[in-house]
Amino acid sequence: MTDAHTGTRRAVAASFLSATLLASACATPAQYVAETPATTPVSPETSACSANVSLTSASERVQSLVSQMTIDEKLGQLNQAAGGRSKSLNSKLTPEELDKVRSGEIGSYLHVAGAQPLGELQKVAVEEGRLGIPLLFAMDVVHGYRTIFPVPLAMAASWDPSVWKDAAAISADEASASGLHWTFAPMVDVARDPRWGRIVEGAGADPYLGSRMAVAQVEGYQGDSLAAPNTILAATKHFGAYGVPTGGRDYGSADISEQSLMETYLPAFYAATKAGTGSMMTAFNDVAGVPSTANEYLVDDVLRGEWGFDGMIVSDWNAVAELINHGVAETEEEAGVLALRAGVDMDMTSMVLPTRIKSAVQQDDCLAHDLDAAVARILTTKERLGLFDNPMAYHDTKREAATLLSDAHRQAAHDAAVRSMVLLKNDNQTLPFSKAPQNVAVIGGLAEDKLTQLGSWRAQGKTDEVVSLLEGLQQSAPDGTTVTYAAGAHPSMDVESSIDEAVNAAMGADQVLLVIGEDYDLSGEARSRSDISLPKNQTDLANAIFETGKPVTIVLVTGRPLAIEQEAEAADAVLNAWMLGLEAGNALADVIWGDVSPAGRLPIEFPRRTGAVPHTYSEYPGGRPADADLSKDTNRFIDIPITPLFPFGHGLSYSSFDYGDLTSAVQSNGDILLSVRVTNSGDVDADEVVQLYMRDPLASIARPKRELRGFTRTHIPAGDSRTVTFTLSPDQTALYGARTGWVVEPGRIEFMVGASADDIRSRTDIEITEGRETGVPASAIATRVSVE
Ligand code: NOJ
Repeated sequence: MTDAHTGTRRAVAASFLSATLLASACATPAQYVAETPATTPVSPETSACSANVSLTSASERVQSLVSQMTIDEKLGQLNQAAGGRSKSLNSKLTPEELDKVRSGEIGSYLHVAGAQPLGELQKVAVEEGRLGIPLLFAMDVVHGYRTIFPVPLAMAASWDPSVWKDAAAISADEASASGLHWTFAPMVDVARDPRWGRIVEGAGADPYLGSRMAVAQVEGYQGDSLAAPNTILAATKHFGAYGVPTGGRDYGSADISEQSLMETYLPAFYAATKAGTGSMMTAFNDVAGVPSTANEYLVDDVLRGEWGFDGMIVSDWNAVAELINHGVAETEEEAGVLALRAGVDMDMTSMVLPTRIKSAVQQDDCLAHDLDAAVARILTTKERLGLFDNPMAYHDTKREAATLLSDAHRQAAHDAAVRSMVLLKNDNQTLPFSKAPQNVAVIGGLAEDKLTQLGSWRAQGKTDEVVSLLEGLQQSAPDGTTVTYAAGAHPSMDVESSIDEAVNAAMGADQVLLVIGEDYDLSGEARSRSDISLPKNQTDLANAIFETGKPVTIVLVTGRPLAIEQEAEAADAVLNAWMLGLEAGNALADVIWGDVSPAGRLPIEFPRRTGAVPHTYSEYPGGRPADADLSKDTNRFIDIPITPLFPFGHGLSYSSFDYGDLTSAVQSNGDILLSVRVTNSGDVDADEVVQLYMRDPLASIARPKRELRGFTRTHIPAGDSRTVTFTLSPDQTALYGARTGWVVEPGRIEFMVGASADDIRSRTDIEITEGRETGVPASAIATRVSVE
C-alpha cells in the first residue's frame, strides 16, 4: 500500500471529545447519585495518537456521558452479548444477565426480538442503570423479518433497486415494531466464486450492480431519519473483502491485489458509506494476511479517513478473539488492543474488548483515547436512533401485532418474488404453460419444502406462513387443469415417494415441472461446496424424468449458480426460482401460467462446470485472449467451451426486444449522454433490463473486457418503444492506479448496450479529453437514467 496511507493519518487528531467537557446534560436517577463511582477522565487529545474518528464533535449529551463513565462502564458499552438464537431468542436474558445490564456491563444484544420482552429489558437499562444508557437490540434481518422476501441474490436478480429498497423498508418497519434497532445488513460482499456458500447473501459478482443494491438497502432500512420509530440502523458487512476467500472456502484469506480490492470489492462499501450507513461490520477473514478486524489501514485510514465514515463499527461474531487463530495476536489482550486500535468499536460476543484490555488502556493514553472514541461512537449511534429521548418507542405491542405480516407486506414479498425469477432457457415457447385444460406433473421434493423458501436468514419467518411452490401451482391451476405431484427425491431430506413413482406421474402428464436444486442448508454461512453440480439424487431424478420423453421445465431452487449444463441441455425450459420467500408458490404460479413475463437477470454467471469458477465477464483480456479455435494457445480450457453456460445479465422474456443504435453526446460539463431506443417486438407486455457496459481499450494498466456502468428495468407494452438515456460523469471511467489512486485517463472509451454481458446489441465511442484525479471508486457512482 502506498506510503501516504500508512501511519501519518493517525497524527491528524480528531477533536470530537474535547478535554473540557460540559456538565452533565443527562438526568441520573436519584437512587444512584449517592454512590457515583470514580470516573476516568476523558483522555486528552494528543497529536501522537489516533484518531481518524469521523465525528468532528459528539453532542453535549454524549460528551457529558463519556466524562461521567468509569472505565468499566466504557468497556461495557463495547460489549455485544447474545440473547439467544433463533427459536430460543431472549433465552439467555436471565436475572443474572439483568444484573449485568444494571451495572453497565452490556452495550448491546443480538439475536433478540419481541416488543414486550425487549421493552422490559430496556426499562432495566434506562431506569436502573447508573447513567440510564439505553441498550441497542440487533438481529440479522437480512431479507425480511416476519415477512420473508427472496434471498438477497434473488433480489439482486430483479435488477431493480426499488424492490430492495421497499423490502428493506418493510423489514425495518417489522423489526422496529418488534423492539429491534439494528440489522446486520446489507451484505455487500461482491463474490465471483459460487463455491462460496455465502454468495446467496449478497448481490452477486458485480461492483456496479452491488453498489446500487447496497444503497437501496441502506436507504430502505434507515429511511429519512434513524430516529423515526419505523426505521433501523443498517450494518453494511463484511468490510472489506469477505466474498473472495481462497478456494471459495468460507472465512478464508482474501489474497487479492490492491487493484481488485479497490476496483471490485470495496466500491459497494463506499457507496453504502455515502448513502449514510450508520454502522459497518468487519469481516472474519484477512486481506493479504491482515485480518479485517485488526486492519488499521482499511478501517481507520480508508473507511474512516479517506471516505469519511462517521458511524459505528462492530466486529463479526467472536472475531476479536479469533485474531489469535489468525496468528497476529498472542493473547486476548493483544487481540483486543489490535481491534480497538484498528477502529472496531463493538465486540460481538468474544468478550475480549469488554474484559481483556482494561490494564492496557490504563497504561496507554492513546488507547484510552481510542476507547473514548469508540464509546462516543456507540453512544452517538444510540442517540441517532432516538434512544436517549424515547427509549420505549420500539416497544408498542399493539403496533407490533398490526405491523407483522400485513397484507401490504405480503403483497410486496409477492411482487419481489415475481421480479426475482430468471428465465434461463425457453425452447419452443415451452413457458408459459397454456391455460387450456391439461395435466401438469410437479416432480421434486423441493416443491413442497417450505423451510427452503425461507432461505438463509429467516429471522422470524415461519414455515406455516409460506406458500410452497406446489401449493401455489395447485391453488391457481386454470379451470380443467390438474396438477399432480410426486416428490421423487429431495436434496437432503428423506421423502415419501420414489423416483419410480415420479416417473409414473410424469408419464401421465402433458407437461412436467421438475423442481430440483439445493435446499436452504446447502448455501449460506460455512456452506462452501467443492462441487456445485446438483446433488446426486437430484441428477438421478432429473435423468429418469428426461427419459420419459415428456416436455420438461426445470424450476431451479438454489442459493448459488449451479453447474447444470447437462440438465439445462436436456430440458425444454429452465426457470431459476432461487429461494423466493413466503410468497414463493404464488409468485411462481404467476410466471408459469403466464400472468406475468419473467424479467429477472443473472447477477452472476452460471458456469458450465465447477472447474470453471471463479470467472467473470469483466476479466482482463490478457495477451492471448480466449479463442474458440483449439489449435491456438489461448486463455481457455481445452475441455469446455470458453463461454459460461448462462452469462452475467442473462434472462429471457415471454416477449422479444429490438435495440436501435446507441448514440452518444458529451455535454459542456463533460457529462456523457448515451441513448438507445428499445422496442418490444413481441406480443406480450413485458419488462426489459437495458444494460450499459463500458471498456477502456487503451490505458496505463490493462482494463476489464467490459464493466457494467448502468442499467434500468423498464416495462414496455407489446409493440411500444422507449428511449433510454444514461448520463454518466467522466469520473465513472476512472481506473485505480497503485501510485495515482483513482484517475480518469484521457482517451477513447467504448460503450455497449445490450440484454446481457454477452448479448451486446449496439456500440459507440466517446473521447475523454482531460485526465484528472477523482478519489472515488468509479463503480460506486450512480448513472442517471431516464426512460421516455
Ligand atoms: C456471523 C456472520 O458472519 C454475520 O454475517 C452475522 O451478522 C453474525 N454472525 C451475527 O449473526
